[in-house]
Parts: sequence; structure tokens; C-alpha cells
Amino acid sequence: MACFFRRKIAAQLSRIFGHKEDVFIPAISAIPVSRKQVGPDFQLSVNDLVSNGVLSAGGDFKTKTELLARQIQPDEVIEDIAPSRGGLHFRINKIILAKTLLKQLHEDPGGFGVRSDLLRGTSGKRTLVEFSSPNIAKKFHAGHLRSTIIGNFISNLKAALGNEVIRVNYLGDWGMQFGLLGAGFQRLGSQDKLRQNALQHLFDVYVQVNREAESDGTIQEEARQFFRLLEQGDERSLLLWKQFRDITVEEYKRIYKRLGVHFDHYSGESFHQAMTQDVLHQLKQQGLLKRTQKGTGVVDISSAGDMSSYATVQRSDGTSLYITRDVAAALDRKEKYDFDEMIYVTDKSQENHFHQLFSILQAMQQPWAQRCRHVAFGLVQGMSTRRGEVVFLEDILDEARHRMLTNMGNSKTTKDLDDPEDTAEKVGISALIVQDFKGPIRSDYRFEWERVLQSQGDTGVFLQYTHARLCSLMRMQDGGAEEANFDPEHLLDKRSTQILQHLLRYDEVLHQCDQELQPRYLLNFLMTLCHLVASAHKELPVKGSPPAVAQARLHLFAGARTVLSNGMGLLGITPVNKM
Ligand code: ARG
Repeated sequence: MACFFRRKIAAQLSRIFGHKEDVFIPAISAIPVSRKQVGPDFQLSVNDLVSNGVLSAGGDFKTKTELLARQIQPDEVIEDIAPSRGGLHFRINKIILAKTLLKQLHEDPGGFGVRSDLLRGTSGKRTLVEFSSPNIAKKFHAGHLRSTIIGNFISNLKAALGNEVIRVNYLGDWGMQFGLLGAGFQRLGSQDKLRQNALQHLFDVYVQVNREAESDGTIQEEARQFFRLLEQGDERSLLLWKQFRDITVEEYKRIYKRLGVHFDHYSGESFHQAMTQDVLHQLKQQGLLKRTQKGTGVVDISSAGDMSSYATVQRSDGTSLYITRDVAAALDRKEKYDFDEMIYVTDKSQENHFHQLFSILQAMQQPWAQRCRHVAFGLVQGMSTRRGEVVFLEDILDEARHRMLTNMGNSKTTKDLDDPEDTAEKVGISALIVQDFKGPIRSDYRFEWERVLQSQGDTGVFLQYTHARLCSLMRMQDGGAEEANFDPEHLLDKRSTQILQHLLRYDEVLHQCDQELQPRYLLNFLMTLCHLVASAHKELPVKGSPPAVAQARLHLFAGARTVLSNGMGLLGITPVNKM
């Protein structure tokens, strides 16, 4: 594993400088592989040593690195040390590299990378991740899908790094729209249709009652009345509301399952409605609640304290708003779950909302407000299905499965699949995820089914294809890679070394994903791994090679498959074994 080698290098540096090994670890990184030649394996950044005070800033850089290079003694692991542009380059013994890495992957496949020294500071916390959070009876749009898959990735990553993760779905289940929905359902609703296709029916009723309410004042009055009853806790109205909510949650659970996503709690705005009065009271007591001329209640969140920016937390009629419920929810979650950090995942149009939320919490003297983070992502344009514009999550999944199944129909291996629909579904979903995770999540992008589902290029189909191919290689050699022993002498060629060198970077890549809460580093790492595996496949045959060579190569391919499959799992992709 990479940290074994980083330690070896750090030990030498520690001897020279007299500082602890740990000081050097973050300054040592694996060098990205070059397609052309086999280069050195690790680099030491001299700038990092200057910034953590090990080296003085002055003096000639070249002289300094040359001197340092001479002081380090090659040993059985570090074969060569050379000055480089940014510091030093290290070449390590390739036999030890192959043996250490593949042995570790064989013995502890799940722990590879995630238990690295480098990641020690990122574990042992309790993290609450709030994501997906659709609104009842309204559209589930591309933004909700992005929130779902990004939030799932963040949760998976945090959990893999040894944190306790609490996954929360914060439903839009309160507000005036429930007045309309309730009134609408009493006029247009059907219990039968609700049982048959709940999400569709609630959506239809909501759309229609909105349309009718535009020209019909009595509907608006009924809606206000219904919502008033809800807020007053009227049993019959609440029962209907609860039925909408329960059915919706059940439906969502079923669909999230297809996506491989689950939640620990289905919370929602309604849960915190009752607490908003306490929040307002507390704000008043702390002297934070100001009254405007219009009669609204606001909190000053300007740094100068001059009201140059403020957040509205109460309407002039005394009722609370979306942000008031969010303040209440945050306080309540802190009390219930005592998290170390809380992460909200929504599109970037809510950036100001979360800035206001965190500022209010800070003004309320909640020190943990600093450990709340908003992960903001960009918009997706043009996501549509055969039914037109996307309204339901299920339609997106059905469309992906359907299109993938059609594409697969043209391939000759499809007939060997036990359950082609299931494979098409998994591959289709990976295609959606990969398309989404390719760039910085803040970026907007245009969605195109043709591009998403291509088998060539850096797509989810290609990831799955590579994984399935590796599985098929293992199947053909029935169990050859289970044999613990292999001779690393047979893995000294360029292709094998490239794969091994690449695997050395896995923990660094996870570290970067965790720091920035961005999946693209891991995705790009896996894509490169797939390209390296494709070349190795061509040049390093297993079948027909002498048994000892075949055995060593199988170990290499098995190791690559383990990392590929672990990495896909973190991204929220279920690897398929055949396709
Ligand atoms: N339901 C909201 C929407 O669809 C997203 C909720 C985001 N989370 C929050 N705590 N405000 O826009």
C-alpha cells in the first residue's frame, strides 16, 4: 500500500532532519503514471517542507535539493533518489511494489486505500448528510436527482473513511401548497388512483387545482382554509396530509432502492413547523429579531451589524418561512444526533439561503454552525424522457434501462445474461452517475442520452464493461487468483508497472475527494485505471502463458478489479459481473 512506501521515504527524511516522520507524509505523493514510459514512483515537494517549517525558505533551490538527494541513502525499498523540479523523485523497488500492493489487496480488499495514514485525520466523526429532499406532489427534477447521487457519494465516502454517517431526506412536506393539494384532493382526488399510482395522482391533482385556482377564488379560499386547519392540528385534515406523506415516502423508498440509495431518516419541513415559534422566541430573547416597517421579522446578518444584509424569518402575519423551519431543523438535529459536521446538498440557486441559515445559527452563538457546509451543484439542462420533460425519478430510471436494453440487444453477449433487465438498469444508472460526476459539480451541463450511454469514451458503460471483462477473466481461470502466492518477478513489464503505480494514488485521490467533496477525482482515477487495464488486457495474456506468469498476471488483474469495484461502490455504482 502507498503508505508503506511513504513511511519508508519519511523515515529517511526523519533521520536527516530530526523531525517526526509524520511531518513528511503529506509532502510525499505518488506520481501520476505516464502513458509513454515508466517513470519514478513518488515525489517529495520541497515547497511543502518549507511551508511546514522543516526547511528554511532562503537559499538556492537547486543546491538545496541536490544536497538533500545526496543525503538520502538508497536502501532495499528506495532504489534511486534524484532532484526534480519541485523537489525530489524516488524510484522504488518494483518487486517489493508488486508484492506489497497485491498482497494487501488480496488479504484486505475492503481496507485498501481507506485505512491509509494519509486519511487518519478524516475519520471518527459523526457526519449528517442531508440530500435528495424532493417536494411532495411536485416534480422530481434533475436537481433532485443530482442531489441524490452526490449526497449518496458523500455519504458513502465518509462512511468508508470510518465516519458514522446519518443520511437524512428533508422532504418538502409543509406550506401553502398543502392547502391547495388538500382542497384539490377533496374536489378531484380518488383513493383508487392514489393506491394505483400515488405520485402521478398527487401530481395531477396538484397541477389541475393550481390551474383552476387561477380563475376560481373559492378554490383559493378553500386552500387557505385547509392549510389553516392543518396548522391548527385539525385531525381530519392532518389524516389526509399524513396519507399523502406516507404513500409518497413508501414510493420513494422503492425507487431509491433501484438507485441503491437509502436514508436513515425521512424528515421534512413539517417536523419543524411547531418549533419555529420557539426559534422566533429565542431570537427575540437574544435580541436578534428586528421588526421592519412592513412588519416582517428579520435577523441582521451583516458583518458590520448595519443591516446591510439581513434574513427574513417571519412574515408580517406572524407565520414562519422556509428558512425559519431550517433553523429549527438544524437546532433539533444538533440536539438529537450531536453531529460533528452537517452537509446540505442542493443546487446552487439555494446558496444564499444556506449562507443566511449558517449566519443566523452563528448569530445565535451556535459554535457548530462553522461545521455546517452547503455543497452546491450546477443545473442540468435538457433531461427528458419519452414522456417528455422529467417529472418523476422513476421515469428517468425506466428510460435509462430501456435505452440500455436496446443498446445491449445489439451485442452478442447479452443472451448469456440471467437477467438482462437488471443488468441494463445497473449499467444505465452508472451511465447517469458518470455523466454527472465528470466535471466540477458546480458546473451546469446539457444532458444527452446518446452521449451518456455511449460504450466508447469515458462513460459509465465503459466502466462497467471493464469490470465485467475482469470478472470474466477471473471466471475463465476458475479461482486462479485465490491462490495466495505469485511471483512478482513476472510483473516487471511496463503495463504491469503502470497499473501498480496508478493504484498507489488511490488513497490520495480519496483524500482529495473528501477535502473538496467532489467525486470527479475518483471518477477520473477509475477511468484511467480502465484505460490501463484495457492496454494490459491486450499485451499481457493470461491464457496460454506459462502457469507462473499467468498466476502473477491474474493477481494483478484481480487487484485492479478490487479497486475498480470499491471505487465504483463509493460513487454509488453497482458493478455488474457480466454484460
Ligand atoms: N425541498 C427543497 C427543494 O426541493 C430542498 C430542501 C433543501 N434542504 C433544506 N434543508 N432546505 O428545493
